[in-house]
Amino acid sequence: MPSRGIVRVLAGPAQLGRAAADHFLARAITAEERGERFSVALAGGSTPRALYTLLADETGPYRARVPWSRVHLFQSDERHVPPDHADSNYRMASEAMLAPLLSSHLLPEENIHRIEAENPDAAAAATAYERGIREWFGLTGRRLPRFDLVLLGMGDDGHTASLFPDSKALFEDRHLVVATRIEKLHSMRITVTFPLINHAASVVIMVSGRGKATTLRALVEPGSENQRFPVELVEPIDGELLWLLDREAASLL
Ligand code: 6PG
Repeated sequence: MPSRGIVRVLAGPAQLGRAAADHFLARAITAEERGERFSVALAGGSTPRALYTLLADETGPYRARVPWSRVHLFQSDERHVPPDHADSNYRMASEAMLAPLLSSHLLPEENIHRIEAENPDAAAAATAYERGIREWFGLTGRRLPRFDLVLLGMGDDGHTASLFPDSKALFEDRHLVVATRIEKLHSMRITVTFPLINHAASVVIMVSGRGKATTLRALVEPGSENQRFPVELVEPIDGELLWLLDREAASLL
């Protein structure tokens, strides 16, 4: 794991979700106190579902306290499928959080910034998404956006977002968002790149389950500096990095 990150080990997936929700709420309230918008890039996969469900739970301690009108939700990555597809990260986030918040009129629709992965041309979808990010942040030239919070997961091969081992996307230093083919999955993905991730104010990597334990141990083993996993390239330049692990994922550390 990058030496500068803070690592917290939680009892299980539910406790990991609560720790992530606490972090989300604290950062959102800080933005509100500053009179600012709160920009978040949502992680995909299955781990974040617990977090998203907690944030939208009307009986829970978060939904009523998050200043949703200030919260702008982007995506860290997306599979190259329509938003109603079973594999869609947007669909997962919508079912767990976005739909309940929209139907309760807490979250304005214009605060959701979805990757339009239904576009048959994945590269065009990536270009359009990058254009939208630049416009939202009011960026000119090659200035980088500073997301308040980037949420990520980690695959058992050490990928994060859709930045997979041996991908040239790992070394993308111009574009904020790229389309990338994942050979082993026989599929295209659309993903943010490290310039965007590492310019964020806060990055949280959520890792749950025994299946991730071997990779997490490999990240910290002596001499591991030579075997670079994509997730090790997450090193916010002027921001905080928080690893939230559950006991199963951390079982070999
Ligand atoms: C995706 C995610 C990916 C995910 C990891 C972990 O689109 O799948 O962006 O990076 O975070 O694969 O996935 P799980 O949370 O399902 O273990």
